Amino acid sequence: MPWNATAEIAEQLHVDKDETAIPGAPILLIVDDDISNLESLKRVFERENLSVLTATDGREALEVIRRRRVNVILTDLMMPGMTGTDLLRSVRTIAPEAEVILMTAFGTVETAVEAMKDGAYDFVTKPFKRIQIVKCVKRALEKQALLIENRDLRARLETMMRPQDIIGSSLPMRQMLDMVAHVAPSTATVLLQGESGTGKELVARAVHRLSPRVDKPFVAINCAAIPENILESELFGYERGAFTGAVNRKEGRFKLADGGTLFLDEIGEISPAVQVKLLRVLQEGEFERLGGTATVSVDVRIVAATNRDLAEEVRRGNFREDLFYRLNVIMISLPPLRTRRDDIPLLAHHFLQVYREKNRKDVRGIQRDALDTMCAYQWPGNVRELENTLERAVVLCKGDTIRKEDLPPTVTDVGAAKSRYITVALGTPLEEVEKRLIHETLQMTGGDKRLTAQLLGIATRTIYRKID
Ligand SMILES: Nc1ncnc2c1ncn2[C@@H]1O[C@H](COP(=O)(O)OP(=O)(O)OP(=O)(O)O)[C@@H](O)[C@H]1O
Ligand SMILES: [Mg+2]
Repeated sequence: MPWNATAEIAEQLHVDKDETAIPGAPILLIVDDDISNLESLKRVFERENLSVLTATDGREALEVIRRRRVNVILTDLMMPGMTGTDLLRSVRTIAPEAEVILMTAFGTVETAVEAMKDGAYDFVTKPFKRIQIVKCVKRALEKQALLIENRDLRARLETMMRPQDIIGSSLPMRQMLDMVAHVAPSTATVLLQGESGTGKELVARAVHRLSPRVDKPFVAINCAAIPENILESELFGYERGAFTGAVNRKEGRFKLADGGTLFLDEIGEISPAVQVKLLRVLQEGEFERLGGTATVSVDVRIVAATNRDLAEEVRRGNFREDLFYRLNVIMISLPPLRTRRDDIPLLAHHFLQVYREKNRKDVRGIQRDALDTMCAYQWPGNVRELENTLERAVVLCKGDTIRKEDLPPTVTDVGAAKSRYITVALGTPLEEVEKRLIHETLQMTGGDKRLTAQLLGIATRTIYRKID
């Protein structure tokens, strides 16, 4: 590329060639048709370490503002073509964050006062002293920096308080999210309990994101997906030579999550041996790597999740009671989707958006009867099942809206759904409920009394007796 090529390109792109700009310095644009005044002001402000741009009329000034982010504009009020007041109005729409200071001559003060109402920051009357105008520009810069900082803070706070990826406005969801926002900033261990697909992992991540640990690692481990003999070394790490193949020391997830959050998914699946080790870390914050004697100390916030009833597992002797209490400092229950049907349309449209973009298909909406069908369905697989349903529907969809035909038979088959659920009005006598429950379950099992008894948790003998 010839040496002047970049300059040419710069010219074509309307990039300022006189990039005297100091990186990071605030940018001041001075507008005046009086060239000598313009030049002397430029020198004054460059000495104040500002990046100074100049324009000799309003039109040129607007050109600059369209291309560059300008912090403060210092403009003459009376200029041929476009007055300072006109420029001010344009600036308010093009660059609302820029502060405008007007320079007025004696006799135009009233106009300047008017301009203040239109959103000018201040005005200075000519002839002015250097120190006076420098002070004025600096104050405008300070005000602007404060405004920007405030806006950024507010935006950050908003995204922090409302985890945007968690969709749901139903009461159970709002209560759950309130709880999340409330406990996240602490270091307390959180136990998330909820059916499969209710969003436990999503909430675990939100707890981390809303905590002061947000800049530290979030480490997740699925205790059910890792073979029992490997889980221990995955969690705590191992020393070189701990077992055949351990050629180097390896840090475990606890160490990797130091300072941050460790998400123990499917905690109900861990073996008694690992339960013991886990209890110790929770109590003392320390452990040893496998095959080692050196004690490792960590500062880790634990979020655990399970779709089992852990208290019940404790009663059955499958889960250590002491560990349960250590984990269950704060329990957050994730409501199943069927108990918050108001969220179904919201979630459906959210996933429509997601999969429409992923598949680059112009699917715009969901037909009324398809939505009604979804709202009536029980969703045993909760949000995950709904998500999969929408993904499938978007892929299958031939037109621009999702029809009932695009939904899987499990969702549309009212008969199938009906045969798996009974609706019972509040106030129905228990005897009646029992009768219908037994009857419908028998229907579902095809009259298998043993299976029916098993499902209902009663003795087969009892079924026979009840049928009689
Ligand atoms: N409220 C929600 N808003 C948006 N997406 C959600 C919501 N709840 C769940 N999801 C989505 O549903 C899917 C399942 O969620 P997640 O993996 O968090 O569930 P889970 O409770 O951990 O399920 P499992 O017990 O089966 O592991 C994910 O793709 C997740 O993004
Ligand atoms: Mg999960």
